[in-house]
Amino acid sequence: MGHPAAAGQPMAEGQGMDAKPPSASQVTISQVMLISDANPQGNVHGGTIMKLVDTAGALAALRHGRRRVVTVEMDSMRFHQPVHVGNLVTLTARVTAVWRTSLETYVDVEAEDVITGERRHTSSAFLVFVALDDAGRPAELPPLRLETEADRAMAAAAEARRQRRLGERAARPER
Ligand SMILES: CC(C)(COP(=O)(O)OP(=O)(O)OC[C@H]1O[C@@H](n2cnc3c(N)ncnc32)[C@H](O)[C@@H]1OP(=O)(O)O)[C@@H](O)C(=O)NCCC(=O)NCCS
Repeated sequence: MGHPAAAGQPMAEGQGMDAKPPSASQVTISQVMLISDANPQGNVHGGTIMKLVDTAGALAALRHGRRRVVTVEMDSMRFHQPVHVGNLVTLTARVTAVWRTSLETYVDVEAEDVITGERRHTSSAFLVFVALDDAGRPAELPPLRLETEADRAMAAAAEARRQRRLGERAARPER
């Protein structure tokens, strides 16, 4: 088990547990949108964007933890503007908060018309990933070192989102 974005081997227990700033794991990925990503009208499927968001978030989580991760929660996503075939989609993912075995990432999505150069912010999302050990059990993550006012504001807001998510989790009938 493990997120498909995971490429390397997990680290041994206790290694790499020094605090790391969000800037150390921030990741940017770009991909051009093809006909196979879209409906017959040329609008890219929401699911295509969601998959890229999941991948970008997972890469930031992997860089922070240097362990395999799984997505445990993806907050609701709103698509502010359409993405078209031929657009270059760029996703920037950043770790906003780290708890014991889970962390939150913020992923921002931008679409560029490569002919005109116009860039549009099209969507964003928060995702929670859980780090796993070799046996597939939740594993401890290095703490996050907050360096800027923006880092601190993001982490404070993440704390409120965590309380909401865990409250909703507790209220679900399956648990
Ligand atoms: C992720 C998974 C291992 C967690 O298992 P679990 O039994 O809930 O484990 P725990 O209760 O110990 O929770 C582990 C961490 O996840 C967090 N968590 C669990 N459910 C959560 C939720 N709905 N929202 C936010 N965080 C959540 C817990 O708070 C804990 O984090 P912490 O140690 O930082 O406080 C398990 O739910 C799973 O395997 N889910 C499937 C993941 C998957 O396949 N994703 C898609 C493919 S990548």
